[in-house]
Amino acid sequence: MALILGIESSCDETAAALIGSDRAILAHRLAGQEAAHAPFGGVVPEIAARAHSEVLRPLIEGALTDAGVTLADVDAVAATAGPGLIGGVMVGLVTGKALALAASKPFVAVNHLEGHALSPRLTDPDLAFPYLLLLVSGGHCQLLLVEGVNRYTRLATTIDDAAGEAFDKTAKLLGLGYPGGPAVESAAARGDARAIRLPRPLKGSAEPHFSFAGLKSAVARAVEAREHAPDDIAASFQAAVVDCLIDRTARAIRRAAGATALVVAGGVAANQAIRSALQALAAEHGLRFVAPPLWLCTDNAAMIGWAGVERFAAGLTDPLDTPARARWPL
Ligand code: KG4
Ligand code: ZN
Repeated sequence: MALILGIESSCDETAAALIGSDRAILAHRLAGQEAAHAPFGGVVPEIAARAHSEVLRPLIEGALTDAGVTLADVDAVAATAGPGLIGGVMVGLVTGKALALAASKPFVAVNHLEGHALSPRLTDPDLAFPYLLLLVSGGHCQLLLVEGVNRYTRLATTIDDAAGEAFDKTAKLLGLGYPGGPAVESAAARGDARAIRLPRPLKGSAEPHFSFAGLKSAVARAVEAREHAPDDIAASFQAAVVDCLIDRTARAIRRAAGATALVVAGGVAANQAIRSALQALAAEHGLRFVAPPLWLCTDNAAMIGWAGVERFAAGLTDPLDTPARARWPL
């Protein structure tokens, strides 16, 4: 059994976890920064980096205490090395490297997207490669064929905004605050999804990609027009996002021969309407549907620790001069 310390700090969540190769989550401590960013209606990179540096060490110490272990018991240290807000990534990466160096442990540099991509395997031991992954978060909207550890084929990405970004912008336009996804989802539950006819960018397109910029502009126009209740706009917006995600995922399923399952991950995967629609799509195509528990969908350190477990088991460790990367496609 290998024990990995995982560290995450790429956006507005600081987290540390101790994960076993037997899938045991020995400890997971997480500190969000919502209150610090809320007055600005979005994540402020400088505030984020500062907050990460203030809370990361106590979080790691707390996680070690929770697990009843010391750094000497850990087999490797894994930290997110990108992509993300560079200041925050550097805080976690430098801390992880320093701990690895001090304790003479191997270091594993984890791509945050790989953390999301492999996270369903932490809670579902039966999920085998290859699987089709819809990765929908605040920064990303991608369809990936996950063929193995370190083996990912990107089938589609967004040509403009990420799905979570569209949720966050819609929330801002509707005055629902930050973070927007959960607020839009609850407003949508009260509204009529057929109230406004909103565009479904790239739906039915021969190309594989996603697009949400046109939908966002249409929401802005609808809000300005003041003809519809905010709940109806939220519901119509969410229905349009669901349609786009389902159409693009269905196209990918037709091209992802051999996939054992349809998997959704990333913060937007917390959305119940999106989960249900994907579940129905998977059933239609005779695929298993796997969605990690909600806490594992949004940013966390358990997924980084688990990616560390998988990479460490595959012999993939990294040198201590591994750079932080703001951009890092899988
Ligand atoms: O994966 P994540 O925690 O961070 C990134 O790596 O981006 O995803 C955060 C995104 C935000 O845009 C947030 O609004 C969205 O996930 N989100 C949701 C829901 N919960 C979080 N979007 C729609 N419905 C939700 N329930
Ligand atoms: Zn994320």
